[in-house]
Amino acid sequence: MQHVEALEILLQGLCGVHRERLRIHELCLKSGPNLGLAASEVRLLCDLEQPEPTWTVRHIGGAMRGAGAEQIPVLVRTLNESKVSKNALRFFYSLGYKLDHELLRVGFAFHFQKGAQITVTVSSVNKMLKLHATDEAVPVTPGIQLVEVTAPASSENYTEVVAAVSSFCEYLAPLLHLSKPGVSTGVVPTAAAAAASLMSDGGGTTL
Ligand SMILES: *[C@@H]1O[C@H](CO)[C@@H](O)[C@H](O)[C@H]1NC(C)=O
Ligand SMILES: *[C@@H]1O[C@H](CO)[C@@H](O)[C@H](O)[C@H]1NC(C)=O
Repeated sequence: MQHVEALEILLQGLCGVHRERLRIHELCLKSGPNLGLAASEVRLLCDLEQPEPTWTVRHIGGAMRGAGAEQIPVLVRTLNESKVSKNALRFFYSLGYKLDHELLRVGFAFHFQKGAQITVTVSSVNKMLKLHATDEAVPVTPGIQLVEVTAPASSENYTEVVAAVSSFCEYLAPLLHLSKPGVSTGVVPTAAAAAASLMSDGGGTTL
């Protein structure tokens, strides 16, 4: 994503809220099938930008399947999250989990209500040169930012949430096309012009 600043101006205008900085340390842990259970993967996350950073454990389930799921433009999957104490890593090691990889996501996020509780994050993915050395992180793909749009849904309201998320994404269309994870999209031909016009319009707005 070359036009990060333009995207930020567009998001600021659409959401009407200020961005929040992100600096998320993410540890991906995997357990083999040796615990008598199926292999599993959990993520430990900590936003270092918070005044008092706390850890969260996240388990992401499989995507919704079936003909209906193929047709909808967003990915629907189960996700469980809970707060954990600082020694969670040691706890998971003792359960037989092993560190698969760790990352540092650096960027910003917008949280707002627009038919659903939408979160947009724009971040670069960095890797650590030494174990847990978040101060010495280097970009995995320099110059490329990951844009994610997510919203919580339940089995009762997901069609409504899918509609809200997809209609929000259409507002971003002059600048970028978003796709489901794993599906690639092409470059948006209007992006350079849209970015230039946003940058000149946004000149008077203090962010
Ligand atoms: C989340 O928790 C519920 C209730 O315990 C469980 O049924 C579901 O499988 C869990 N999903 C994930 C992705 O961990
Ligand atoms: C849908 O349900 C989830 C889970 O209960 C809730 O967090 C979310 O706010 C609901 N969204 C809408 C648009 O009703």
